[in-house]
Amino acid sequence: MSEMVCDLLVTGANGQLGRAIRALAAARDLTVVAVDIAEMPLDDREAIGRVLGEARPKFVLHCGAITDVDGCEHEPLAAYRINGLATAWVAEAAARHDAGLAYVSTDFVFDGSLSGTPYPTDAAVRPLSVYGASKRLGEEAVLAHGRDDFFVVRTSWVFGPGGRNFPRAILDRARQGQPLKVVTDQIGRPTMTHDLAEALLDIARLRPAGGIYHAANEGQCSWHRFAIDTLQAAGMGEVEVGEQTAAELNRPAARPAWSVLDTDKLAAVRGKRLPHYRDALERHLPLDEASRTTDPKDGVGGKRY
Ligand SMILES: NC(=O)c1ccc[n+]([C@@H]2O[C@H](COP(=O)([O-])OP(=O)(O)OC[C@H]3O[C@@H](n4cnc5c(N)ncnc54)[C@H](OP(=O)(O)O)[C@@H]3O)[C@@H](O)[C@H]2O)c1
Repeated sequence: MSEMVCDLLVTGANGQLGRAIRALAAARDLTVVAVDIAEMPLDDREAIGRVLGEARPKFVLHCGAITDVDGCEHEPLAAYRINGLATAWVAEAAARHDAGLAYVSTDFVFDGSLSGTPYPTDAAVRPLSVYGASKRLGEEAVLAHGRDDFFVVRTSWVFGPGGRNFPRAILDRARQGQPLKVVTDQIGRPTMTHDLAEALLDIARLRPAGGIYHAANEGQCSWHRFAIDTLQAAGMGEVEVGEQTAAELNRPAARPAWSVLDTDKLAAVRGKRLPHYRDALERHLPLDEASRTTDPKDGVGGKRY
């Protein structure tokens, strides 16, 4: 790669969000250097510095991460290294080359105790899982620079066309005639990759004050409600969805019972909110069906939601 100046460098570019960012950036005629594990392994500080030095991006969208929430409980060192330490390396390289940076983080930095009130950006954090703690480490590394062009953008319950996403998992089970039992006692905001990508590109363009922002689709629901909404949107509203508590499901990683993000700060900057998640679901489903035949990473990997 010869030295160039591009608009954006996207890490985790083959991931769910990375692919949506690439598509949107292309539609907006932005020059993008897209990197994933093959081009810029996040466990390699030297590679991170070299790639940023060659690409010379105006702005870095750092989406690369280990996102298997339960898997992180079993491999905490990898989680802290890739989600935490590597983010410090991305931030140090961005600062060195005077690039802006948005680090995509998670609602799982919260413990859910604010129940009933959407979490503002300055709410106290208390991750319940290794994944949440490792992402918080990444946040701290970005914020420690105190730069006005460095952003932490928390999002939640991400779904987008291609591969491992909750709506697809529900529809696949339903179509196979398997019984559905879904968690009722965790409430959050499902967020579509395309809508999140728009918000991130707006942050890169508008350059609001540095710091923490929350970006999530409007509306809130339990996973159970989200499953019902998915089936209804797919014309399968007659399928029965059983109820289950998080305690009954007993996953390795604890998740907050309430993680609704307050998105007012971002809405004030953009002059608009992300659309409602049910609107997003309607747009997602046909695109996801199409991606089943065209996406090489389709269905690969563990559970991330
Ligand atoms: N998914 C959600 O519900 C959710 C919710 C809140 C926040 N977020 C955050 O949003 C961001 C994007 O999430 P996503 O859903 O798009 O995740 P994703 O689909 O898992 O994408 C992450 C990408 O990072 C890559 N990656 C993993 N380890 C790497 C390494 N050592 N070096 C370089 N690249 C590596 C992954 O490659 P492999 O696939 O080969 O591992 C993948 O392509 C992440 O930072 C995540 O923490 C996600």
